[in-house]
Amino acid sequence: MNNYIIAIDGPSGSGKSTIANELSKKLEISYLNTGSMYRALTLYFLENNIKKDENINKSLLEKINIDIKNNKVYLNNKNVSLEIRDSFVTENVSWVSSIMAVREYLVKLQRKIASNKSIILDGRDIGTVVFPNAKYKFYLDASPEIRARRRFEQKEINKSIDEIKDDIIKRDYIDSHREISPLKKADDAYVIDSSNLSIEEVVSKIISYMDKEDVL
Ligand code: DC
Repeated sequence: MNNYIIAIDGPSGSGKSTIANELSKKLEISYLNTGSMYRALTLYFLENNIKKDENINKSLLEKINIDIKNNKVYLNNKNVSLEIRDSFVTENVSWVSSIMAVREYLVKLQRKIASNKSIILDGRDIGTVVFPNAKYKFYLDASPEIRARRRFEQKEINKSIDEIKDDIIKRDYIDSHREISPLKKADDAYVIDSSNLSIEEVVSKIISYMDKEDVL
């Protein structure tokens, strides 16, 4: 069996990480959540008081070690899997992910992690920038109402559904209007609207688009 890449892009709360996780268990291949890498860098910037207007360049970034093992995120060898979900990180991740040097640094790391294996990556620019030649590309979407409800039901955020929905709409706007690598559907990606589908239904839909030889 040849190695292959599955790119899953889409806005926040569209179910990418849940679907990618399930799919990776089913296909017995690796999974990389690229949003968690942008979040880890954001946490580093916040902890070290690095501001938007500073010279954020390659030499600064190369001092920061981001590692992902067994779906846990390590920042300079410390497990930060919980901290990166903090609302302070969520509120700041958009400006960090719009910095060119940050994107170059993380895209390089993502390509390195994904080499020589079959892997699922989820994010905003996987099918358009990181792996434009990925064998499988999906664009997962859902209405802002449904996405806000899902986040609310995860009980990780201490906000009302309407407040979460407003945050989601704001972040969508920033993510899809930034100059570098905006959130955008790749021309050759399959679009799946998960608004009225269960996790199992989305996973089955993805598998139905795949070659038999890649499905166990
Ligand atoms: O998937 P997430 O919500 O955890 O991602 C956090 C932020 O990281 C999101 O607002 C946009 C950014 N991101 C990105 O710019 N490119 C990616 N490939 C993944 C995430």
